[in-house]
Amino acid sequence: MQVQSTGSLEYTPRVQEITAAIRSRLTDVIPDVEWPVHAPYIARINELKKERDAVILVHNYQTPEIFHGVADFSGDSLELARLGARAGSGVILMCGVHFMAETSKILAPEKTVLIPDLEAGCSLAAAITGEDVRLLKQKYPGVPVVTYVNTSAEVKAESDICCTSANAVKIVESLGADRVIFLPDGYLGRYVAGKTDVEIILWEGSCEVHERFTADEIRSYRRSHSGIQVIAHPECPPDVLDEADFVGSTSAMIRYVGENKPRRVVMVTECSMSDNVAVEHPDVQFVRPCNLCPHMKRITLPKILRTLETLQPRVEVPAEIADRARLAVERMLQA
Ligand code: 13P
Ligand code: SF4
Repeated sequence: MQVQSTGSLEYTPRVQEITAAIRSRLTDVIPDVEWPVHAPYIARINELKKERDAVILVHNYQTPEIFHGVADFSGDSLELARLGARAGSGVILMCGVHFMAETSKILAPEKTVLIPDLEAGCSLAAAITGEDVRLLKQKYPGVPVVTYVNTSAEVKAESDICCTSANAVKIVESLGADRVIFLPDGYLGRYVAGKTDVEIILWEGSCEVHERFTADEIRSYRRSHSGIQVIAHPECPPDVLDEADFVGSTSAMIRYVGENKPRRVVMVTECSMSDNVAVEHPDVQFVRPCNLCPHMKRITLPKILRTLETLQPRVEVPAEIADRARLAVERMLQA
């Protein structure tokens, strides 16, 4: 879809001036030749979001011009879910994928929730349906269902409690059950199983970005970059996680870099995150494998502007599904 804005989008001296502070932070990750393309959008989006009383939530995997240019808040799935619920404004614009916007709508049904591209999906969310969960519950009666937030509202509505990569072990243990059904990420489920005595019944969904990393690839980074710290997202395969110095959610990975200040690091996750974090840590050398999430990359500055101009597309969740899904998400937030 080609997106056209109605306002002037020239790189004028005024645009240059009002985006200068942002520009100066991004010189290492956005080349000079690209900046005049991004800057007019950044300037206009930042003006228009105030006029629209909109808060822009940005996932850690968005590109630097979005992450550092227009975000009011950024974070991992758990932080964005919390922020969406608390945001004071009437409009939430989610720069992330569809399940993240849906979670915001579930938690704040009275708010207008926008996403710049409704097709921004997720291979994990696509891996399971509400009907699949109903069949699992028939097969394992009485066994609680713990559902990763990377799922549709319909799947959340069939679940007892949600979790994210930041709290999965804690949530599984919070139930006091001997075994749980954990869905839909088989790799995250295996990671959790390795950290708890609770028996985990798995569903074999996977993230199309993290499943591509291999243990050989990680070993080759260690051989070619002495002293490198390897930090990985738990959606990676188990043999990749075995090679890592630290495993955590996207925000936990960012905190690890801030607290440990490694000389060299490789973030085994979606590749925009290294660019975003490198901006904050010029003294850390980032080795950057580039596995892109095609869904996250559907979000662009022109689409964000268009969304603010039109207040479309909106994310809606039927009330009977949202009411049940909300119970599962709120149980997670209260655990
Ligand atoms: P986080 O909750 O760790 O940000 O993960 C979201 C995601 O989609 C990872 O691929
Ligand atoms: Fe889904 Fe993987 Fe993309 Fe995250 S990176 S949104 S889990 S496909």
